[in-house]
Amino acid sequence: MDRPRPIHRSGYDREAHDYYATPAWVTACLLRHVSLRGAVWEPCCGDGAIAAVLESHQHAVVASDLEDRGVGTPGVDFFGCSAFPPGCGAMVTNPPYGDGGASRRATNASIGMLRFVRHALALTRAADGQLALLVRFQWTAGQRAAALLQEGMLDRVLVLTRRIQWFDRGIHTTTGQHHHAWVIFDAQRDRSQPSSIVFDQ
Ligand SMILES: C[S@@+](CC[C@H](N)C(=O)[O-])C[C@H]1O[C@@H](n2cnc3c(N)ncnc32)[C@H](O)[C@@H]1O
Repeated sequence: MDRPRPIHRSGYDREAHDYYATPAWVTACLLRHVSLRGAVWEPCCGDGAIAAVLESHQHAVVASDLEDRGVGTPGVDFFGCSAFPPGCGAMVTNPPYGDGGASRRATNASIGMLRFVRHALALTRAADGQLALLVRFQWTAGQRAAALLQEGMLDRVLVLTRRIQWFDRGIHTTTGQHHHAWVIFDAQRDRSQPSSIVFDQ
């Protein structure tokens, strides 16, 4: 009989470069709440899980990733990109959280994510575009994350009340430990209006 696991351990080996495919319902949920302008850039596309849903909703997608997982342009380091690809008005991704699993200190995750979000915001501002990032809901409450979120472009936090199952292991599949949210930024938002928080049921 399986022994119970402590709740802070996923029990799964971490994938290289934090590769986790986003279930389709998560992207479909984003698209119920946001209208994206122009073509969409998925800069950490993995095997194209998010890109496929965007395309099925009639969005043109430019997909890239550091690794080659058979979809998009491989070998593209997001941190080496200095602009949205031509024609793209929005960036949508589930970024690498950079925490290397439960065995590393939580601060590593925080620093990796902050670096990613800072760069994503800078590119979004320069493109006068939109940005949707899938993050752990708890991440939004950290002081440095909150400071970034409050810089002015945050339009909406879309909280997923259903927890994501990252792996399907048949009857051994466990419910994910974290709640997630889409943090949605828009360089063209009306800043006289407050950002909103929405709970998807
Ligand atoms: C959490 S997975 C998400 C994959 C995909 N976005 C999805 O949601 O299904 C993160 C992805 O980021 C890629 N990645 C990690 N570091 C990267 C970097 N510096 N530049 C571009 N892609 C990177 C990984 O190879 C991996 O495919």
